[in-house]
Amino acid sequence: MTKIIAVASAKGGVGKTTTAINLGTALAKFGRHVIVVDGNLATPNIGIHLGAPVVPFSVHDAVRGKKDIKECVYSHESGVRIAPASISINDLKGIDHKKISKVLKGLEGTAELVIVDSCAGLGEEMFSCIDAADEILVVTTADLPSVTDSIKTIELAEGKGKTVIGVVLNRVRNDNSEMKAGEIEALVEKPVIASIPEDESIRKSLKKNHPVVYSHPDAPSSTAYKQLAALLVGQKYEVLTKKNA
Ligand SMILES: Nc1ncnc2c1ncn2[C@@H]1O[C@H](COP(=O)(O)OP(=O)(O)O)[C@@H](O)[C@H]1O
Ligand SMILES: [Mg+2]
Repeated sequence: MTKIIAVASAKGGVGKTTTAINLGTALAKFGRHVIVVDGNLATPNIGIHLGAPVVPFSVHDAVRGKKDIKECVYSHESGVRIAPASISINDLKGIDHKKISKVLKGLEGTAELVIVDSCAGLGEEMFSCIDAADEILVVTTADLPSVTDSIKTIELAEGKGKTVIGVVLNRVRNDNSEMKAGEIEALVEKPVIASIPEDESIRKSLKKNHPVVYSHPDAPSSTAYKQLAALLVGQKYEVLTKKNA
């Protein structure tokens, strides 16, 4: 039985790809069979983030019916398995976004968990990722425009009968200009299940084409992603501090 989790937010740039990759890598570190799939066909990022911008067969080939999606899965040195989409604008021609859903379901039986990095906006492409998913994880930053878009994402997902697991609050700086987790929970009517700090290690890891949980395992954002991963699979994750290391 494969569970498909879509990482979603109507707003771009809030950390969907970062979350999908790091959640997937953390779960792989815990010994879970996981595949992170690019569900963002117009502006794919998985390959870019992980230094695999061009692969022999991409999610576009699967959507086009040229390849089985199982043939579009690759192992990344961090231990996570990924299915990147093509970054070539030519590969977008004639793509039927509605087919993403069927393609994602073709991964049934190949992993315990499939994490889908979905696109911003509320278009066909995003709908199709939501359609395939069993559960949705919504990523937001702690500001009203992003939270407002999250409400739309949640309404859309629930309108399709999907379970929204909760909200991942990203780029948290704990300053006075930010909305607090409690305020966000009251507005979106879902729990904030992770707070990922603003962390320069994420930018450094992107430069190295690595997930931060792999390149900077002890960074604050890595700890937060590992805690999120543990929560999702009901596993215990104890943060090693100087006291208990
Ligand atoms: N917690 C964070 N701290 C610092 N930089 C971050 C954090 N989360 C994301 N970023 C950076 O923000 C940018 C957008 O993130 P990304 O995951 O690509 O967003 P999305 O997929 O929602 O468009 C990337 O350059 C990423 O490295
Ligand atoms: Mg992205």
